[in-house]
Amino acid sequence: MQKVVLDFTVVSNLALNESNHLLRMRAEESLLAVAPGQFVNVEIPGSSEVFLRRPFSVFDADPERGELSLLVKVLGRGSRTLCGVQPGQKVSVVYPLGRGYTLPGSEERVLAVGGGSGVAPLLFLARRAGLPPGRMQVILGARSAGDHIPTEAYSRYATLSCTTEDGSLGTRGMVTDHPLFDRLEEFSRVYTCGPLPMMKAVAARATAAGRFCEVSLENLMACGFGVCLCCIEPTVHGNLCVCTEGPVFNINDLKW
Ligand SMILES: Cc1cc2nc3c(=O)[nH]c(=O)nc-3n(C[C@H](O)[C@H](O)[C@H](O)COP(=O)(O)OP(=O)(O)OC[C@H]3O[C@@H](n4cnc5c(N)ncnc54)[C@H](O)[C@@H]3O)c2cc1C
Ligand code: FES
Repeated sequence: MQKVVLDFTVVSNLALNESNHLLRMRAEESLLAVAPGQFVNVEIPGSSEVFLRRPFSVFDADPERGELSLLVKVLGRGSRTLCGVQPGQKVSVVYPLGRGYTLPGSEERVLAVGGGSGVAPLLFLARRAGLPPGRMQVILGARSAGDHIPTEAYSRYATLSCTTEDGSLGTRGMVTDHPLFDRLEEFSRVYTCGPLPMMKAVAARATAAGRFCEVSLENLMACGFGVCLCCIEPTVHGNLCVCTEGPVFNINDLKW
């Protein structure tokens, strides 16, 4: 799969809540096609302490206009530095990487479930799926209302529900406590991205209901293109690099 190293110019950096930033960037040229669930590897600008690039899902992209958006959650030094970039600053990005979600047919009904920074690829997925109203449901989970990013954008392409562990927004509990999980037979596909325990719980429910399920793994990565082998995941096809064979996997391929 073709990939390039491109310099993007930061167009805006918007703090969405205490720990999440939306970075909009533009390249001088049009971009290669990109699929929902694919990711980019970003050089942390101006940092002498963070040597390795950091992987981030494509939150949104308009390849013809050279536009790329990332949703970045502050976790450690790299993400914190990246969240401090200013409009006009250059950011070097390896683009696009990995294999994304398989898109549903137009007659299908699908459920997408995200938590933490795993909400990032689901907006692009909902937009690209382009399903008629009512055919796609998205559940976004967080600890509490303040941890949710603004969700209006998701509502443009899907029916949105939120869960919070403390009940401060939407259904109280974990994403799998949402009532839609009692109606999984209505969906032909389940997509998920987020913390590993959340994805495992979602995948277990989807598997029990006999539903097609794809998960997007966030194994630690370095090179991002299959050389360093630090992102290996044991699968039924042997040990695979998440950065090249994933990050999206069908649950039947994983040894969970
Ligand atoms: C394919 C892929 C897509 C991703 N998409 C997004 C996204 O859209 N938005 C977003 O905010 N983040 C995303 N991440 C996670 C993001 O890459 C990490 O948060 C980031 O690299 C952390 O870098 P740092 O320098 O801030 O933290 P570090 O200093 O490198 O790490 C801080 C702590 O977090 C842990 N950590 C680092 N990376 C991960 C990880 N991937 N999973 C679990 N723990 C980790 C480290 O072990 C350490 O304990 C994605 C990761 C992958 C692999
Ligand atoms: S990150 Fe280097 S092989 Fe996957």
